[in-house]
Amino acid sequence: MSDIHFNKEKGSQLKLFTPGPVEVPERILQELAKPNDTHRSIPYEEMHEKVVEGLQKLLYTDNDCFIFTSSATGVMEACVRNLVKSDEKALFLSIGAFGDRWYNIGVKNGKNSTKEEVEWGRALKPEFVKEALEKDNYNVVFLQSNETSTGVYNPLEEIVPIIKDSGAVVCVDTTSSIAGVKVEVDKLGIDVCLASVQKCLALPPGLAVASISKKALNKAENVENRGHYFDFVYFNKKNQQNQTPTTPPIPQIRALAAQLDYILNQEGLEERFKRHARLGKRTRIWARDAGLEMFSESGFESNTVSTMKNSLNIDYAKMVSEMLSKGYRIVNGYGDLKNKTFRIGHMGEVSIKELENMLEDLTDVISALRLNKIS
Ligand SMILES: Cc1ncc(COP(=O)(O)O)c(C=O)c1O
Repeated sequence: MSDIHFNKEKGSQLKLFTPGPVEVPERILQELAKPNDTHRSIPYEEMHEKVVEGLQKLLYTDNDCFIFTSSATGVMEACVRNLVKSDEKALFLSIGAFGDRWYNIGVKNGKNSTKEEVEWGRALKPEFVKEALEKDNYNVVFLQSNETSTGVYNPLEEIVPIIKDSGAVVCVDTTSSIAGVKVEVDKLGIDVCLASVQKCLALPPGLAVASISKKALNKAENVENRGHYFDFVYFNKKNQQNQTPTTPPIPQIRALAAQLDYILNQEGLEERFKRHARLGKRTRIWARDAGLEMFSESGFESNTVSTMKNSLNIDYAKMVSEMLSKGYRIVNGYGDLKNKTFRIGHMGEVSIKELENMLEDLTDVISALRLNKIS
């Protein structure tokens, strides 16, 4: 195993330009190493309360925020199980691989699930959403803010109010945007806003968070077969006591508390969003200059992950492996988009300078590949 991938003393030395998990800053690694009291203790409860307050600020909401020992997919399933009754209808608005995943979760849980999709690379538009909602009476609607496979950001400000007007409960998976892009939960009326922490929050994987509206909580109370591990009603009861239902990864929650404090009180939310916007713009300019067309529709490009087409007909697997030898991890396309696209994640704590250094090396690798200098 190469020293750069797994250094016994220092851990991985790779620079991750991935759409998650991303690099975790040293100050967070230090938090993770600190000792903790148990999860049934006053110090834990104080920490839990601090995290909930931080999440409310991050998500611009007064709703309760839950902390899950799970990745985002667990909470996606939890939404399906807690919010869709057996005689109700669920609508999944998909613009890519993660939208499809949510629909499949609906189907696998035996819920009456309908998928309405747009061509990959495109965003949801108000007209499309209106037409989809008019086809039936949907009780719950599921969608992504940022589709990490295609690098498309949905215009939430335009489409969530349309869904709200239909009376449906709205669940938004903000996994690859929270803490990188502003999502104003209460202003938009999002009932469940969920995300895992290994992306723009720059924490190690293993936790997910979500804000849950009163409407969603009241609904969950009347849904049967919610299961046990992710039962929102039980989560709410424990959350009121600043607790989780089962033993959480306490060091991770300490790290989340520290990271929220850093984001809110040191970098500042607006500055963080601006930095991500700059990272997105810089990457798109680089792609244009390199002759690489964006996979994402113009005007709806993500500021946290860029997906580029294979306009130059490059062997992307080779490109990724050559970048690895230079100490960078970028990633090939997701699922069906493998080799048709590649992705650069620019989320978490990445600075413009670090991005530019990586892009310089990537430009060299692309030139060498085009001149057949790399076998
Ligand atoms: C938009 C989106 N939703 C859901 C997921 C699944 O997240 P997790 O791996 O934390 O379950 C991902 C992961 O990349 C994602 O990007």
